[in-house]
Amino acid sequence: MSEALAGLKVEIAAIQADADAAAEGVARLADLPTTRARFLGRKGAITALMQWLGRLPADAKPLAGAEINALKAQVETLFDSAQARLDAAALEAALSARRVDPTLPGRVVARGATHPIQAVLDDLVDLLGRLGFELTEGPEVESEQYNFDLLNMPASHPARDMQDTFYLDGGLLLRTQTSPVQVRTMQRQAPPVRIIAPGKVFRCDADTTHSPVFHQIEGLWIDKDVTMADLKGVLTAFLRALYGDSREVRFRPSFFPFTEPSVEVDVWTGSRWMEVLGAGMVHPQVLRNVGYDPNEVQGFAFGLGVDRLAMIRYGMTDIRYLWENDQRFTRQFRGGLR
Ligand code: PHE
Repeated sequence: MSEALAGLKVEIAAIQADADAAAEGVARLADLPTTRARFLGRKGAITALMQWLGRLPADAKPLAGAEINALKAQVETLFDSAQARLDAAALEAALSARRVDPTLPGRVVARGATHPIQAVLDDLVDLLGRLGFELTEGPEVESEQYNFDLLNMPASHPARDMQDTFYLDGGLLLRTQTSPVQVRTMQRQAPPVRIIAPGKVFRCDADTTHSPVFHQIEGLWIDKDVTMADLKGVLTAFLRALYGDSREVRFRPSFFPFTEPSVEVDVWTGSRWMEVLGAGMVHPQVLRNVGYDPNEVQGFAFGLGVDRLAMIRYGMTDIRYLWENDQRFTRQFRGGLR
């Protein structure tokens, strides 16, 4: 009996040593289950010992059973720690395979920027707003009626040829100026009127300083006694606020059918005069056309060339840069320039 137990102990020690070496020798996580089964599986060495137990005399069984259970627990612990070792190694390998390199340059996010025309428009609207002008708008597709007739330019008027017009069918056209918004506004509301109307205008014309699509801001101030002095005062204040007090500005007599008297205003660019706006006292006939009484109210109107102002502001030599979307150009305006 003690002899059988002694034999069991030898067997147990052998299995223990074998399991020790086997658990330690497993190099890959994938191999662990098979190796473990060699000892703890249904056909494993320890399970075989249990069968051996059956052949022992009854009084030896409790002791032998306890020995085998102790072995089993030990071998389980052995393989559990082998599992833990291999799990940790696998994690380590995975982590070092996709290690973060903090010295790598970040990804560059493409940033948009306000187009120079929009930047200038925003500034002008803001500035004129502070001078008391309210913002309004009119349609880009206009009727001949609004673009010409109501502005004192009948079909036979020579000034109608001055502007190369994109005509559409049915008496419609692409507006050649923002001045029709004067008429639309006065038709809609009784005086006093003090508005600005920015927008696109269209003329069949293209070179370094003319684009077929460009931007104007129309201004109109009508009240009981708005005079030519107000026109000069407001426009001078406006251009000084825009360019600083030292910028040279000149008023030249001019002609527009819808203003009388009329002026054109030039700004010195450093090398030449550039015309930036037309203006004048609103013609009595235009006031009558919208149902105003020229003996009661009067005022002035102006039309600003926004693209020209942008060219002067940014020192551009060719108006076409504004439309080409060449990033070497547009990138320079990132973040605004003022
Ligand atoms: N509409 C004129 C133009 O486009 C400018 C202008 C506006 C002149 C208002 C006088 C008054 O040239």
